Amino acid sequence: MTVIARLHTALATLGLTEADAVVEAHLERAAKDERAYADVLCDLLDREVEARRARYLRTRTRLAHLPFIKTLDQFDLSFQPSIDERQIRELRTLRFVHEASNVIFLGPPGVGKTHLSVALAVDAIRAGFGAYFITAHDLVADLGRAYREGRLDRRLRIYLAPKVLVIDEMGYLPLDDLGAMIFFQLVSARYERGSIILTSNKSYGDWGAVFGDPIIATAILDRLLHHSTTVNIRGDSYRLKERKRVGLLPVVPGALKEPTPTRAAGRGKVRP
Ligand SMILES: Nc1ncnc2c1ncn2[C@@H]1O[C@H](COP(=O)(O)OP(=O)(O)OP(=O)(O)O)[C@@H](O)[C@H]1O
Ligand SMILES: [Mg+2]
Repeated sequence: MTVIARLHTALATLGLTEADAVVEAHLERAAKDERAYADVLCDLLDREVEARRARYLRTRTRLAHLPFIKTLDQFDLSFQPSIDERQIRELRTLRFVHEASNVIFLGPPGVGKTHLSVALAVDAIRAGFGAYFITAHDLVADLGRAYREGRLDRRLRIYLAPKVLVIDEMGYLPLDDLGAMIFFQLVSARYERGSIILTSNKSYGDWGAVFGDPIIATAILDRLLHHSTTVNIRGDSYRLKERKRVGLLPVVPGALKEPTPTRAAGRGKVRP
């Protein structure tokens, strides 16, 4: 067996697949450039470490069920002047994840609530935290099914495990009694243990109607807001702006105005 063949066997046995793939090219270059052995070895192992990190991030991202991948750098803050830049900078530090505190994005359709939630989840994943994304509707439907089948506790664990749980589109559809009870259980169980990033088109005052019961709404909000940051976005829909740009909408004053969260209450999901 040649020494190169032995090297490949050893690298493959140790599971160093990236190093195995690039070792010969590294050795050739090293011979040509007359590089020190330690440099060559270090470069080779760096490649392996990098490849592993990329693989780990891909897996974590896939497990998070994000609806799309967008980052904070892709978010145009100048389009939404109601957002306090300092607040976003603070969220970016991910201190809220370390402290298991919550982030709530409130605002009308198209202002970037889901984009910002996904971007924070992406940052959290890059920092090594687990994240999971689900809409409020799917969450309650899934846990409702588990409850009826007598396995709510086991199923809840899926939503308790990730350090960051994104619950999107709270309030677009009202919850029934079971939905409200399940939501309360989830928020209580995650309280001071893991962050919830939540988006809603309803202001807090309207949550009584969302849960069909002001008492349970108060109990949920009490836990959710105790350690939390609320980002209230009052502005134009980015979707409408884009349509206007490509000429699908007439340019009339106020055409970019969408209902405020309060006015949108009870209207269901308003899609432009
Ligand atoms: N300020 C922004 N800069 C860049 N892209 C933006 C901005 N705001 C929104 N977008 C983009 O516009 C689209 C709509 O944003 P998003 O889905 O986050 O809105 P939303 O507030 O969640 O709306 P809805 O309540 O209808 O779900 C997305 O493609 C998002 O990436
Ligand atoms: Mg959204």
